[in-house]
Amino acid sequence: MTVIQSENTQQQTDTQGVALFEPLTLRDITFRNRIAVAAMCQYSATDGFANDWHLVHLGSFAVGGAALVMTEATAVEARGRISPEDLGIYKDEHIEMLSRIVTFIKAQGAVPAVQLAHAGRKASTYSPFSGGNGELSKADGRWQTVGPSAVRFSEQYPLPHALTREEIAEIVRSFQIGAERALKAGFEVLELHGAHGYLLHEFISPISNKRTDEYGGSLENRMRFLIEVTDAVRQVMPAELPLLVRLSATDWTEGGVTEAETVEISRVLAQHGVDLVDVSTGGNVASAKIPLQPGYQVSFADAVHNEAQVPSGAVGLITEAAQANQILQEGKADMIFLARELLRDPHFPLRAARELHYDIAWPKQYARAKI
Ligand SMILES: Cc1cc2nc3c(=O)[nH]c(=O)nc-3n(C[C@H](O)[C@H](O)[C@H](O)COP(=O)(O)O)c2cc1C
Repeated sequence: MTVIQSENTQQQTDTQGVALFEPLTLRDITFRNRIAVAAMCQYSATDGFANDWHLVHLGSFAVGGAALVMTEATAVEARGRISPEDLGIYKDEHIEMLSRIVTFIKAQGAVPAVQLAHAGRKASTYSPFSGGNGELSKADGRWQTVGPSAVRFSEQYPLPHALTREEIAEIVRSFQIGAERALKAGFEVLELHGAHGYLLHEFISPISNKRTDEYGGSLENRMRFLIEVTDAVRQVMPAELPLLVRLSATDWTEGGVTEAETVEISRVLAQHGVDLVDVSTGGNVASAKIPLQPGYQVSFADAVHNEAQVPSGAVGLITEAAQANQILQEGKADMIFLARELLRDPHFPLRAARELHYDIAWPKQYARAKI
């Protein structure tokens, strides 16, 4: 059993039988259990800078016992922000506060992760609580968005500029520089945001990618940009640290990304040094009908795990300890990513352990109160 050296080592005391609390090792990083915090935008940054909100928000999940604590989508270029309030990693000055957050997360025995992102054609919009809706006005600082092709996401969204080959190469480099900054900040896991209709997904999906050059058409061409980013990022990462990619396994729309394509992309990603695919869906078609129900995306994580034979993360309407445990027990995924349930209860892992009759240590500050 790996002992994580930290101020609040939540070392498990029983390794029998509860899949959710079995450690997982990817490269040289051991996660204390299988519970990961899924990326969640907070729309609370100024010019990309993290602040006390991000420290407390992300820190609370580390205190609550999660194994992996992921930042929200963190833009590698200023124009890659969904809104002006998104977190960024496009300046060296961003590193300092991120490093403070990382230090706190590590001190609780959790692994800090950053989701590197570029919003592509879904950038330059109002954040949910800014008062506006859809595309930013000129007065509010609208910027030119970019995408594989000049195709809007929807009427409320700006028309993107179709990237030239040279501009694609510059964005690959921005991901690489973002990765270098993330490593300087101390992050131990990097995730590329290849889902939800943002730039990397926009290239993969035939719905948003109408290119006729080597970045469009065949699946091999549509995933080329993602693979170039993967290679550029992996190149600057130490071999000991894991790289994750989040994919949208389906566009839930005829003519969009399919499960079979996702299995193939996952295989190729693994060959390029990706250690786990975090399997989400949707986000690239405004009108898509998504069959929301508990665990509605788990079958796609299952396909990546069992057909591609690549470690996978399951996410989406997983809200119960027994449900999360069962997904792992049935061999459908390797990690469980939670978003909204962790907002309801940042201490979900402590509660889940109790419900599953599994003993984990609480933070020393809480230990006397443990029941
Ligand atoms: C407030 C909020 C912000 C989100 N921001 C991101 C994000 O930055 N990156 C991302 O990949 N997914 C994002 N998501 C999607 C979640 O990571 C997750 O995939 C989704 O909420 C489904 O999981 P859940 O049912 O456990 O909430 C966000 C979800 C929520 C609720």
